[in-house]
This record gives sequence, C-alpha cells and structure tokens, in this order.
Amino acid sequence: MDKIKVLVTRRWPAEVEAVLKEKYDVTLNESDKPMTKEEMQKALQEYDCFCPTVTDNVNSEVLSVENKRAKIVASFGVGFNHIDLDAAKKEGLVVTNTPEVLTDCTADLAMSLLLSAARRTGEGERELRAGKWSGWRPTHLRGMRVTGKTLGCIGFGRIAQATADRAHFGFGMKVIFSDPYKPSDEVIKKYDAQHVSIEEVLKNSDFVSIHCPGGESTYHLLNDERIGMMKETAYLINSARGDVIDNDALINALKNKKIAGAGLDVFEGEPELNPAFLELENVVLLPHLGSASIETRIDMGMRVLQNMEAFYNNQEPGDRVV
Ligand code: DGY
Repeated sequence: MDKIKVLVTRRWPAEVEAVLKEKYDVTLNESDKPMTKEEMQKALQEYDCFCPTVTDNVNSEVLSVENKRAKIVASFGVGFNHIDLDAAKKEGLVVTNTPEVLTDCTADLAMSLLLSAARRTGEGERELRAGKWSGWRPTHLRGMRVTGKTLGCIGFGRIAQATADRAHFGFGMKVIFSDPYKPSDEVIKKYDAQHVSIEEVLKNSDFVSIHCPGGESTYHLLNDERIGMMKETAYLINSARGDVIDNDALINALKNKKIAGAGLDVFEGEPELNPAFLELENVVLLPHLGSASIETRIDMGMRVLQNMEAFYNNQEPGDRVV
C-alpha cells in the first residue's frame, strides 16, 4: 500500500522529522521559509495530511481550494487562531492542535517576563554590554519586589494555572483572575484564587498576565481604556497572542508611564515589530519563545504524530479541535 502523503510547512525538530520520514511519505520544508497562500493551497490538493504551524495563515481562501486531497490539518502548536475553523468545518476537514505539552515551558516564560520586567534585567544587561556600568550603588536600577504581590490572569486555562502555580507557591503571590468559564472549585482552592471581573483584575493587580486565546473575540481586549484601569505601578505580561493588546495603546501607556512596564513574547503583526517598542527601556521584548525548549518542541511534534496516527487508524484524534 502507498504511504500516506504528508506536507510539513516549516522545519520541525530532527527527532520528529525522523519519525515522519519513517512512517509517511513526507515532504519537509528544507528551506524553512514560510509558505505562500498558493503553496498551501497546492499542498492541500496534493497531500493527504497538511501540517501547518501557528505562523501559517490557514484562512478560508486556503482551505476552500478546489479538488482537495487532504482530509486532516494537523497543526504544530496549541493556538489555533491561525486556522479558520468554520471554513475547515465546512470543508469537512479534521483539525488538531498540540495542547498540554507546552504548558510548563510557556508558564516558565511568562514568569521569566514578569521577573525580567519587574527587576529590570534587560536594562541592566544593556547597560553592562554597553560598557556603562559604573558599579554597585544603593539607588541603581531598583525595580519592584515580586514576592507577595498580586498576579491577575486574564483567562485561566492550563497555562494561566501553571503560571499561578509558580507565582503562588514560588513567590507567595496572591492570584486573581477573570475568565468567562469558571474553573473547578478545586483549582480555585489550590491557588487560593479569586474569580473576578476583567476590570477588577486590571485595577487590583501588580502584574496583569494575558492567557486568553487570540482571534476575533479577544482582538484589542486590552485597549486604551482597559490599560488605563491598571495601577501606575503595574506591569503587563503577554505570552498568549499579540493582537489581544492594542500595540499603540500600550506604547502610549509605557511612554507616558501610565503603567510601570511590560513583558512581551508576542506582538500584533509579528514578526514585524512596532519600532516604538525598541525606544522604550521599560519593556522586555522576546521573539515568541513561550514553548521554545528542546524537550517541548519535540513533544509538540510527537503530539502531532499521535493525532495523525489516531486519524489514520480510524480513531478520534486526542486533540481534535474540529
Ligand atoms: C502555540 O503553540 O500556540 C504557541 O504560540 C507557540 O508555542
């Protein structure tokens, strides 16, 4: 029997590509260059399984291409706002993602942003590398003490809970959160957390950390008005999706010291970056590294493989989104 034809849109960890090669008739993207709309459409016509990742814009134009051969879109990444799920449903395509395996690493990164922003480590490193460090002194680069402060999560899914775990048990932080879905009482009790409105999160947190999905429903949720509700001493942390924050509103707040600072791993329109961010000292900027550990990226790839295997064994893929 002919092997199943699979197309992968970007380079994946070598360990995962090796398994793909062994089990499938796979075409890898050796150049690692993002694919165009036309290339993705062609892939859906020529391959049984299409494996995009979170930077591929798999919109309705791509998915509705005629004469499709593909039956499954097995995505590498937990977020799925890059895929038009309604269009996928309409086209009868199965869509899967890779949750859970990146929870700890993404929470680690959220904490790293929080700590870096509060303790001004980026500013310190820039000063030192520029040869401008004049030595220890009592008033040098004082930031905010993290221990005992209040963490406010917008969205309280897996990654937010893992961040709360680190903040509460590691740094003695109080946890409050807003989420349209109420987590179990057991989860709330574990972190001694309080479920409040988004306005209360903004008004009462020392660190506001975003953990909601991206897409239409949360587009610019953090706009001028909502950022304006934050304490002047507070920090905004985003390890979720860039378009949840109105970049211009955030830049304005950072420039005019309406908030103390921010830690950002994701950006509206990334990898393009609003150059105004680069002028600001009170923001920590990272290039979407949330899940970027060797182990997690392998686990994410293996999770895609598990979903494909289930699909081709006529079972329900564990991480089916559509
Ligand atoms: C995801 O998986 O959605 C992240 O943004 C990349 O790890």
